[in-house]
Amino acid sequence: MRATELLALAVRARRAAYAPYSRFTVGAALLAADGRVFTGCNIENASYGLTVCAERVALAKAVSEGVRSFSALAIAGPKTSITPCGACRQVLAEFAPDLRVYWRGTGRRVVARSLRRLLPEGFRIGARR
Ligand code: THU
Repeated sequence: MRATELLALAVRARRAAYAPYSRFTVGAALLAADGRVFTGCNIENASYGLTVCAERVALAKAVSEGVRSFSALAIAGPKTSITPCGACRQVLAEFAPDLRVYWRGTGRRVVARSLRRLLPEGFRIGARR
């Protein structure tokens, strides 16, 4: 699947975002190694710190369905250059250290980065799945 297709799925997933507090809606689309796509949106809470980002919602949906191998992630927000937050980078690295991450940059260019570049030397205990 091309980056632009995955980005389009992230844009669609964003529609379900529940963000009444920040009004900052985010969508994510996570491509599994088997070709399935798991989408997510941010889900805020009145107790603000309990908010879950779109990326982690997508990952949780996949892992809870028994899927643990991923190739790419696309993110869409209300503006360009929306990148995964630090917490999401760490959580994604648990399952997909070699993930490709896509977002729209300036001029709607597709930006592609490796998760390794986004999170160099992330925390690991060493346990392998
Ligand atoms: N958010 C995401 O969903 N993903 C990110 O990578 C960054 C932040 C959400 C959390 C919150 O609901 C809103 O964006 C503003 O921070």
